[in-house]
Amino acid sequence: MTPIVRILRLVRVPRARLALAVGLGALALGSGVGLMATSAWLISRAAQHPPVLLLMVAIVAVRAFGIARGVFRYLERLVSHDATFRILADLRATVYQRLERLAPTGLPVFRSGDLLGRFVADVDAIQDLYLRTLLPYAVAAIVGGASVGLAWALLPEAGVILLVALLVAGVLAPWVSAAVAKSAERRMADLRGELTAHVVDTLHGAPELIAYGVAATRLTEAARLDRSLTRASARSALTAGLGAALTTLAGGLAVWGGLAVGVPAVRSGRLDGVLLAVVVLLPLAVSEVMAGLPLAAQAIERTRRSASRIDAVLELPEPVQEPTQPAALPDAPYVLTIEDLRARWTPDGPDVLDGVSLTLEPGRRYAVVGPSGSGKSTLTAVLLRFLEPSSGTVTLNGVDLRTLRGEDVRKVVGLCAQDAHLFDTTIGENIRLARRSATDDELRDALRRARLLEWVESLPHGLDTPVGEHGSQVSGGQRQRIALARALLADFPILLLDEPAAHLDVANADQLTADLLDATVGRTTLLVTHRLAGLENVDEILVLDAGRVVERGSHAELMARPTLYRSWWEAERLQDRVLAIPADHGVPRST
Ligand SMILES: Nc1ncnc2c1ncn2[C@@H]1O[C@H](COP(=O)(O)OP(=O)(O)OP(=O)(O)O)[C@@H](O)[C@H]1O
Ligand SMILES: [Mg+2]
Repeated sequence: MTPIVRILRLVRVPRARLALAVGLGALALGSGVGLMATSAWLISRAAQHPPVLLLMVAIVAVRAFGIARGVFRYLERLVSHDATFRILADLRATVYQRLERLAPTGLPVFRSGDLLGRFVADVDAIQDLYLRTLLPYAVAAIVGGASVGLAWALLPEAGVILLVALLVAGVLAPWVSAAVAKSAERRMADLRGELTAHVVDTLHGAPELIAYGVAATRLTEAARLDRSLTRASARSALTAGLGAALTTLAGGLAVWGGLAVGVPAVRSGRLDGVLLAVVVLLPLAVSEVMAGLPLAAQAIERTRRSASRIDAVLELPEPVQEPTQPAALPDAPYVLTIEDLRARWTPDGPDVLDGVSLTLEPGRRYAVVGPSGSGKSTLTAVLLRFLEPSSGTVTLNGVDLRTLRGEDVRKVVGLCAQDAHLFDTTIGENIRLARRSATDDELRDALRRARLLEWVESLPHGLDTPVGEHGSQVSGGQRQRIALARALLADFPILLLDEPAAHLDVANADQLTADLLDATVGRTTLLVTHRLAGLENVDEILVLDAGRVVERGSHAELMARPTLYRSWWEAERLQDRVLAIPADHGVPRST
């Protein structure tokens, strides 16, 4: 099955509307042909100075065809665009839903700009399939066929000539231009994706690029991509021109052909002289029908390429399989049990989690520590059902997570992520994301627990202060605390916190850890962290190394024997002493 067919199967095609559009298009172009034919007859007949009454019908017909052409054209545009936009809307929603399911973990192969291109430009390009390909071809077939019939009825040779001209313009010319344009059209979709990705990437990284003085190189690269794209467009335009030229040539030759067979026919009396103009001018009218076909053929290639780019996203394996008959979400209080869990990111990749077991009891707090890359974030991904375990089980009150809907799981298990995203809106809106219905008082309460309320109230605009793109107008610590307030407002029964203090200086990190441990008293919490200071307050600590739990216990237990944890903890204290950070962490240094 080709990508186009696969994609079209996903959307509801409004067949009736499309058929109506074809009908209206045929009427519009047919009126054009009728206009040309009746005017040709009218001019010839008028030259004979007949009584004007004999011309009346033709005069009215010319007017009617003239008006009808415009009206039908308008209606056809209206109906065809309406139908196409319905298809597009449907397709965009489908692609978006798919992206939504893939987004947390399943999209590493695509660059964000390229993905944006696929979602916007490539989906748009699908409209060409109907508007610029199927519709013009269907209309051309109907009107062209009828015109050949008319010419044939007047003079069979003229009919044959018109048919040949139509085949040249409708089949040969498009085929030639499509064949020549094929590689250019393919390259264009890819280059457009590359260029978007490059520009988005460059804009995101602009501060770094300027700081390292490499902005010029990035711009040169963008210019090179742009030139390639321009070259590909020029080639595509050239072939479109070639096709148009061939079509026009065919139309012109058909006019001459009409003359060549028409004049002898009039002489021999086989054709009424008055109808000669009709035979000669008919091909001219019909060439209007054919003019769009080379472009239509080119659009096929473009659509095909875009379809396969969209298909590449749609065909990605889902990182988690949603159950066909989801189990009901059990009731609180929740016990989350992880048993001998193994997980990997790619089917043939290594196990990133290698036999992890842990039970999260209601109201207790846990910490997961371990070196970078040991699988801490991966564990949160599995618990949120963003990633499927490759073996072992995770159960919520005894119900296997795999039998629950991902959405339901995420009602119970919430995450304050390592790099929580702030949207380019106000502080209030960013927090309210967790619960649309939250009142201002509830917002304030969440802010208070995240130790942010004083700061927010000191701002001239308070909750309505904008945070800037990616939270660029607030400090790193404030950003993390806003994210924390959001997670607290959501009121998840089980809260996962992934390195909430990762980007803060030591004193601020310790303060934040202390604050969030205060804020989560009595809530099931799993804190992922690099830094060990403050972990005296959690109930159980898991030391993860290369995906395995190498040590576990409370801070006191782990400190009582020579453990990895104790050596890390001592190293951390030593480092803190060097940096002159008081051992009674949690109190910020005056800065
Ligand atoms: N989305 C992903 N796709 C593929 N591999 C991934 C993905 N995320 C993580 N990995 C791999 O899984 C392993 C564990 O990564 P993980 O992010 O769980 O480590 P971590 O303990 O959270 O590290 P850090 O402390 O640096 O955040 C790493 O080898 C990493 O390369
Ligand atoms: Mg991590």
